[in-house]
Amino acid sequence: MTKLTQPELDELVERARKAAQHSYSPYSQFRVGAALVLTNGEIVTGTNVENVSFGLTICAERSALVRAVSQFGPEIRVVAIAIANLNGLASPPCGACRQVLAEFILPDAPVVFPMADGVRTMAFSEVLPLGFEMKLK
Ligand code: THU
Repeated sequence: MTKLTQPELDELVERARKAAQHSYSPYSQFRVGAALVLTNGEIVTGTNVENVSFGLTICAERSALVRAVSQFGPEIRVVAIAIANLNGLASPPCGACRQVLAEFILPDAPVVFPMADGVRTMAFSEVLPLGFEMKLK
C-alpha cells in the first residue's frame, strides 16, 4: 500500500468527518464524507448530496473526486481515501464509487472506511478486484 503514516490516515478520517458535516441528506439522514490525498499532496473532500429524485443523489466519494479533477485537472492521481459517516454505521464505498475511483486511484492506495466492527484499511485493488476496463486494440 502507498505509504502514509497512521497519524496521516487518522487526520484524513478527521477531514472526511468534517466534510460529512456538510452532507445534504434530508431523505436518508445518512451523512457521509470523503477525503482524498492526491499525488501533489493536496487533500480534497466531498460529501453526499441527495435529491428528491433519489437516483440523482451523488455519493461523498464521487463528489470529492469530481471536485479534485475540477480543481487540479485530469492528471490527478489519488494516493489515499478516507470515508466517514456521522451515523456510526458501516460505510464502505458503494460499487459505483469504486468503479469511478478506479479511473484515478493508484491500485495500492489505502481505502479507509468504517465497518460495524471498527475502521478498516484496505488497498484499492482489494476493494475493487475486477473493475471494468476498456483496452481497445
Ligand atoms: N452514500 C455515499 O455517500 N457513499 C456511498 O458509497 C454509499 C452511499 C450516500 C448516498 C445517500 O445519500 C446515502 O449515502 C444513503 O445511501
